[in-house]
Amino acid sequence: MLEFEGGLQSSKFRKSMDYIIRPMQDRDILQAIEIDREAFPTQWPHPTYSSLKQELRNRLARYIVVSGRNETTPAAVEQRIGSKSLWQRLSQVRHFLDHDRFFGEEKPPPAKDYVIGVAGFWIMVDEAHITTIATRNAHRRQGIGEWLLISVIDVAMHLSARIITLEVRLSNKQAQALYQKYGFQKAGVRRSYYSDNGEDALLMTTDTMTSASFQSHFQQLKQEHQQRWRALYEVSEVT
Ligand SMILES: CC(C)(COP(=O)(O)OP(=O)(O)OC[C@H]1O[C@@H](n2cnc3c(N)ncnc32)[C@H](O)[C@@H]1OP(=O)(O)O)[C@@H](O)C(=O)NCCC(=O)NCCS
Repeated sequence: MLEFEGGLQSSKFRKSMDYIIRPMQDRDILQAIEIDREAFPTQWPHPTYSSLKQELRNRLARYIVVSGRNETTPAAVEQRIGSKSLWQRLSQVRHFLDHDRFFGEEKPPPAKDYVIGVAGFWIMVDEAHITTIATRNAHRRQGIGEWLLISVIDVAMHLSARIITLEVRLSNKQAQALYQKYGFQKAGVRRSYYSDNGEDALLMTTDTMTSASFQSHFQQLKQEHQQRWRALYEVSEVT
């Protein structure tokens, strides 16, 4: 269940000294929520433990995380998540009204390592649709977002997706730069797509991923990423 059927060959079993890229597990969910809140502060609703747990069991969904082994201990993360800001207290009041509070939400399993980036996508027939990709603020511009996107593309191709699509805020130039680097092109605009501020979404899509041009571009970018961010790829251990 938690292992993808291939597609992460270049990364699934690959452990670096400090980082590992792997399928997301239940024990990562609290940190994935933390990353989501940090990356998309104005977005509502944020995923909950049970919604993400359900996603991990959804046959159409795939979630990938990058975790660091020499980072803040999971205990510190949980303490942070556990410390209640006013906003979190308000969220709890809201949360009290939802299904989980009435029917019991189980206690999340303890985290094992520190998650610094998350990506997820849905696969529908021959199209993969990226639902989320985010890196913790403190770890931006270190090749993590790109590593996640490379893995999303690898897994999606392995699952026979022909193209990958996504929506991105019109104002989100950083993310657009990442997608453009990997050959995503503008395919349309969804007006007032985001409910928090009514912002439009840009719909972006890859070319057919089996095309020679996509493949040669992708393989070249992968190589460049491996050379530039060598520390991510240093194998110290194989599971
Ligand atoms: C978008 C995001 C995932 C990029 O993650 P990251 O780990 O910082 O990205 P990387 O270091 O791997 O950068 C990869 C490429 O992304 C683009 N990029 C990332 N940050 C950028 C910035 N601040 N300005 C311009 N381009 C940027 C560049 O093309 C970069 O390639 P380069 O280094 O050759 O210029 C990250 O900024 C993030 O989490 N943002 C908030 C969440 C979000 O907006 N997600 C996208 C939703 S559609």
